[in-house]
Amino acid sequence: MSLATVSEQGRPSSRIVLLKELDHRGMTWFTHYTSKKGEDLGKNPYAALLFFWSELERQVRIEGRVEKVSEAENDAYFNSRPLASRHGALASQQSKIIANRTLLEERAEKISAQYGEQVPRPASWGGYRLLPNYIEFWQGRSSRLHDRIAYTKNEQGGWLRERLQP
Ligand SMILES: Cc1cc2nc3c(=O)[nH]c(=O)nc-3n(C[C@H](O)[C@H](O)[C@H](O)COP(=O)(O)O)c2cc1C
Repeated sequence: MSLATVSEQGRPSSRIVLLKELDHRGMTWFTHYTSKKGEDLGKNPYAALLFFWSELERQVRIEGRVEKVSEAENDAYFNSRPLASRHGALASQQSKIIANRTLLEERAEKISAQYGEQVPRPASWGGYRLLPNYIEFWQGRSSRLHDRIAYTKNEQGGWLRERLQP
């Protein structure tokens, strides 16, 4: 899914992340809290998610507040990841500049030798969950009068369903 965040200066940026979990609370992805998106979310905890299926002519837009997932959830997912991914999480300071690829590979090798199969989860690695307050479904139609159905959460926690013009 595409994840859009906004910096403290009001500048938006977007990138793809893996939707790892979807439940009644919201949508969860995992990342480095010290990355660009982590910095943005630390200053402005609102974000937008976007899904697009070309073949189905469908788009889903989601907006809401973002919170960090629990330490227990972070540990559970981190420990379920392949070993190379866990080593990589320790080796990479996501979004920071590095002079060349060799340095990165050397760091990963060092971490692999140091920790083997017992890789500690870096405190700066974990999940975020977006708690949606707006979800809009767009369905393309051959008539060009496409469908847009928007759900907006009200203060009681219920959802208002409205049709928008295409
Ligand atoms: C298919 C795909 C899946 C990705 N999944 C993730 C992910 O789950 N978590 C993550 O941190 N980055 C993921 N990335 C990398 C991000 O797009 C991005 O490069 C990285 O998170 C740094 O973004 P930032 O500098 O804006 O924080 C993925 C990229 C692609 C293309």
